[in-house]
Amino acid sequence: MTPKTTPVRVWDLPTRLFHWPLVVLVVVAWLTAGEQMNIHRYSGYAIIGLLVFRLYWGVFGGSTARFSSFVRGPGAVLAYVRNWRTAPLVAGHNPLGALSVLLLIGLLIVQVGLGLFAIDVNGIESGPLAQHITYEAGRWVSEVHELNFRFLQAAIALHLLAIAVYLLGKRRNLITPMITGQDAVAGLQGELQPAPLWRLAVGVVLSALVVALIAQAG
Ligand code: HEM
Ligand code: HEM
Repeated sequence: MTPKTTPVRVWDLPTRLFHWPLVVLVVVAWLTAGEQMNIHRYSGYAIIGLLVFRLYWGVFGGSTARFSSFVRGPGAVLAYVRNWRTAPLVAGHNPLGALSVLLLIGLLIVQVGLGLFAIDVNGIESGPLAQHITYEAGRWVSEVHELNFRFLQAAIALHLLAIAVYLLGKRRNLITPMITGQDAVAGLQGELQPAPLWRLAVGVVLSALVVALIAQAG
């Protein structure tokens, strides 16, 4: 096991409260797709709210949640991969993990965005914005919505595989910090610089407004 030391704060509460409900809601959207469409749409709205919040938090949130703190160019990613075993441990996403974060968030945005315009084959079940496009376009969107879900599934599988590789190959537990917000691994550089509470309040109101606007359009 990697040596332990005094725990350091690495993830703020909003980032953790984004992640775990997101996991539950994506599973709900998955299980209800094509079956219980009301629940499917409601879970989709909730995911939209989480994604709007995460984009906002990526700019105004705690230091380790900010995109500017973890999005790196190809050079930094390659250097990290080359020195995978010896690379310094930094609070927040490492350059490679950051890629998978962007991939997951990107695919989720495409997924919910397409869902808003999707129309089922009978034209009965549809997303709240589907009325603005033709049936044929809505069917095409539905096909891409389904295809993109396969990519999302693959990205989630990769995400879980990476976490397992860190746990088993590097003896580094990434899961506990995403739950408790703290990491006790020895040699960790940096620490979370939290954002003020009012920024959280603004983000929650903003996300709720976007969801309300989309939902009432349906
Ligand atoms: C991460 C979130 C989502 C996931 C994983 C997801 C997944 C899926 C999948 C796999 C299907 C195909 C079901 C089938 O035909 O067997 C589907 C259909 C559908 N989804 Fe989503 N979806 C998500 C979000 C949304 C959202 C936000 C909306 C709209 C508010 C939406 C609306 C629809 C509609 C209307 C269909 C029916 C299309 C058809 O039957 O071809 N989805 N979804
Ligand atoms: C539907 C399935 C999942 C999705 C869509 C998902 C998505 C994400 C996203 C978007 C992030 C970036 C967090 C942020 O910066 O805001 C993340 C990080 C993380 N996720 Fe997941 N996740 C899923 C399932 C899981 C599961 C089941 C686990 C635990 C076994 C897990 C463990 C983690 C951990 C440990 C991190 C932090 C990685 C790091 O230290 O860089 N995820 N996930």
